Amino acid sequence: MSIHYAEEIIEEIRVSNDIVDVISEYVKLDRKGQYMFGLCPFHKEKTPSFSVTPSRQMFHCYGCGKGGNVFHFVMGVENLDFLESVRLLADRARIQLPEGEGEEEKKRIILKQEVLKINVEAARYFHNILNSKTGDKGKDYLINRKISDNSIRKFGIGYSTEDWDGLYKYLSSKGFDDVSLKESGLIIPNKSGSYFDRFRARVIFPIFDLRGNVIGFGGRVLDNSLPKYMNSPETCVYNKGKSLYALNYAKNSGDKRIIIVEGYMDVISLHQSGIINTVASLGTALTEGQGRILKKYAEEIIISYDADTAGQAATMKGLDLLNEIGCNVKVLSIPEGKDPDEFVKKNGPQAFYKLLENSQSLIEYKIRVLKNEIDMESTEGKIKFLNKTADVLTKVDNRLEREMYIKKLANDYEISEEAIFSEVLKRTRPKTSFKKPVIEHTGFKANKLPGKEDSKLIHLEKMLLVFLSVDNSAYKFIKDKLSIEYFNNENRSIAQIVLDRLDNNKGIVPAELLNAIGNDEANEYVRIIQEECNCEDNKKAILDIYRKIQLFKLEKRQKEILDILSGNNNDVEGDVERLKDELKSILIMKKSI
Ligand code: CTP
Ligand code: MN
Repeated sequence: MSIHYAEEIIEEIRVSNDIVDVISEYVKLDRKGQYMFGLCPFHKEKTPSFSVTPSRQMFHCYGCGKGGNVFHFVMGVENLDFLESVRLLADRARIQLPEGEGEEEKKRIILKQEVLKINVEAARYFHNILNSKTGDKGKDYLINRKISDNSIRKFGIGYSTEDWDGLYKYLSSKGFDDVSLKESGLIIPNKSGSYFDRFRARVIFPIFDLRGNVIGFGGRVLDNSLPKYMNSPETCVYNKGKSLYALNYAKNSGDKRIIIVEGYMDVISLHQSGIINTVASLGTALTEGQGRILKKYAEEIIISYDADTAGQAATMKGLDLLNEIGCNVKVLSIPEGKDPDEFVKKNGPQAFYKLLENSQSLIEYKIRVLKNEIDMESTEGKIKFLNKTADVLTKVDNRLEREMYIKKLANDYEISEEAIFSEVLKRTRPKTSFKKPVIEHTGFKANKLPGKEDSKLIHLEKMLLVFLSVDNSAYKFIKDKLSIEYFNNENRSIAQIVLDRLDNNKGIVPAELLNAIGNDEANEYVRIIQEECNCEDNKKAILDIYRKIQLFKLEKRQKEILDILSGNNNDVEGDVERLKDELKSILIMKKSI
């Protein structure tokens, strides 16, 4: 992980963001003794196994094993990289990050600001055209689709004329340079080196982020020509996988549910009908990033995609994805092949609310899809249905819930409860196998693999480093015995930090140690800190681990030598007499440990 900011600044940001405060913005925490517990935001669970230790400023989930300090939490929950999480938390604590820390970084920030300015200007430009005579065609189209003036204002809808370079000329006259204009994606260079507008003769929908910045645009043709929509490309301010159209409004709806639809028109129609807890994923497959953002703002997410095949496939994928990251998901199906826009225009909001009340859970939906796919009249079909249904039900981990579904299923589809039960049972019972696991032959020499042995050593070293950061005062007892070469390669970068700090009397705490560690390693470190480093006498513990490491190394070498001497290892040649001497001294050293 490359760190651009000075260690001290990162640490200042860490201590300025109390982990309990930060996590409480995402997870409801309850105090239990010296810990706080809540439902883990990183995996699906119904009883809390996610713990926060205020005194240590760390979190650890006993369920999925995720852990770390406040940076790791923000990285995971906001789907950010380390630097982005540093920036977010610096912002939160109102700590000014040094600018010009890297020239590149500075340039990037300026370009971003410039593109945001360009986008606002462009949105105004399109909106003004729509409201002027030149925009009559666009206005007529919107009227035809029953979009009110209010909605046009609320969503900042605009129109782009047939002009080749109207926007380009306008923005240039405002002083924006070609590089920034190109980066905005609104202007496209042609082969001869001149520029033209991306959006021509289209109704324009600006896309906002949560803070109301314009980050991109979509444009719809007025007729049936293709492509129906044109969209901004990904830019330095527009990340499609993390944006949700209209979330800036939906997040304030006061409803615990958020409905997710496919398109601009669906959102606008629903909002216009007063159903403002609606966002759109804009036709692309729902991403994990979008899912995590939704989870932050909603207790329940309802997918309401088009009833066509593409929409149904997207529904299934979206369901699995959201369920996987621990969201409560449901499906609102629009009857008669309509999309939400058409439905609400034809039937009104009350009818839509009714559909909302009848939305189906993941399991119900999956079973219904199965039923539609399978010919239920034939015996074969019925058996296939029973099998596939059992597959789906096996994934319900709550027994009561499962029983409820089985009852309902038996009732709805005239299958006996017992039959479903026994199929599910078959699948949930762990398969017993008496065979030993087969270790595949990899072609490497066994003694060169970082086997279980080495991983135990690496683990002990990690414990040593953790203990030293838990109790810096214990370092003096072991200082002379340690150097960077003492540690396995894998642990050296962390060991370097710990030894540097302690050698220079700077001190280090476990949560600070984690600043230098990526997500996966942090999980492991926190587990060690939480579960293995709670002892009364740190000095004794450290010396004990040190002894274990020494013993370990000696035993490893002893085994190596014995292997060579007994001819088991032909790879290594050694002077037999010298090896025998070494063996003797190893045996003596082992006794003295
Ligand atoms: N989309 C796109 N490019 C296309 C078609 C669709 O980007 N060529 C995206 C748009 O964000 C669109 C969404 O997918 O809003 C859903 O597509 P669709 O259902 O076809 O469009 P609607 O929003 O329903 O628009 P309309 O009702 O005007 O047909
Ligand atoms: Mn539509």
